[in-house]
Amino acid sequence: MSSAFSPWRMSVAPMMGWTDRHCRYFHRLLTRHTLLYTEMVTTGALIHGNVDQLLRFNEEEHPVALQLGGSDPADLARAARIGQERGYDEINLNCGCPSERVLKGSFGACLMGDPRLVADGVKAMRDVVDVPVTVKHRIGIDREESYAFVRDFVGTVAEAGCEVFIVHARNAWLKGLSPKENREIPPLRYELVHRLKQEFPHLTIAINGGITQDEQIAAHLERVDGVMVGREAYHNPWIMSRWDALFFGDDRQAALTPEAVELAMLDYMERAHAEDGAPWYSIASHMLGLRHGLRGARKWRQVWSDHRLKSRPAREVWAMARAHVSDEPEPEAVTG
Ligand SMILES: Cc1cc2nc3c(=O)[nH]c(=O)nc-3n(C[C@H](O)[C@H](O)[C@H](O)COP(=O)(O)O)c2cc1C
Repeated sequence: MSSAFSPWRMSVAPMMGWTDRHCRYFHRLLTRHTLLYTEMVTTGALIHGNVDQLLRFNEEEHPVALQLGGSDPADLARAARIGQERGYDEINLNCGCPSERVLKGSFGACLMGDPRLVADGVKAMRDVVDVPVTVKHRIGIDREESYAFVRDFVGTVAEAGCEVFIVHARNAWLKGLSPKENREIPPLRYELVHRLKQEFPHLTIAINGGITQDEQIAAHLERVDGVMVGREAYHNPWIMSRWDALFFGDDRQAALTPEAVELAMLDYMERAHAEDGAPWYSIASHMLGLRHGLRGARKWRQVWSDHRLKSRPAREVWAMARAHVSDEPEPEAVTG
């Protein structure tokens, strides 16, 4: 059904601490076609750590992409191969994260300063996996604001065989800003990403950063191949229930209701608990935005996030939350 569309047409961004397998299972209930990304997993963690724990996912999550953090080509190749063996549909390299560890030069946005190293990493990964190897990056680092900088980065990495670039349309300022500030303060410059698509029409270019509305998405899709949404998808997940119909011509999700999704999540919580003891609240935390803008949302959310209920079975918590839900879909005056 989705074959006429680019696999990167819609995606949910990789978000550390947020897009774990439970979160992705939830997002998949809302949209069948949107590509889902893992949290970043570093090559070091994967090579030395517990692969099962780091890479486990639910079959329902496909299509799902593994995001790697790292810079050593041999390590990236090893990690990419593990990712492919575990069944991921894509390996993505993080060249956009401005976290503290990048100061050591190990991964993330600082890699944009060394496009040759990124190209070597991409090549090393492509040599050992069949799934697509893609790169997520920024439009620049620090005060380097010229279009030529990002153009040359994409050009160099494309020469190594990367065909898909997901571009967060703001610079990363490596000094002086926290990762959170780096998602808010450097200005968005979408036009640079549109220009990349014009200059590299054969590459797949997806745009990311500050995109929250269906109309915005539709407008970007006129100019680039795909749109990646992060925070809005997490905080207001119901928007994703429209994406299959709006952007993939598939209206099978049209009859979906928040109640049905919540019930499916309750089943999932019970299953996860039975399988490996996962507590309901580690799963429920990802769906707290489900009723965003609906009557009773605040109280509903309070129940699902009430720490005093931690020892109670998920089904009891669900029944308590339901008591606050009204069928009227009117927005609340205050949803805080
Ligand atoms: C909590 C959080 C964690 C993030 N972790 C990652 C990450 O692991 N890898 C990555 O490439 N980007 C990460 N990002 C950045 C997002 O992928 C995305 O590029 C950014 O939030 C801008 O998109 P948005 O405005 O739609 O949220 C993270 C963002 C947030 C809010």
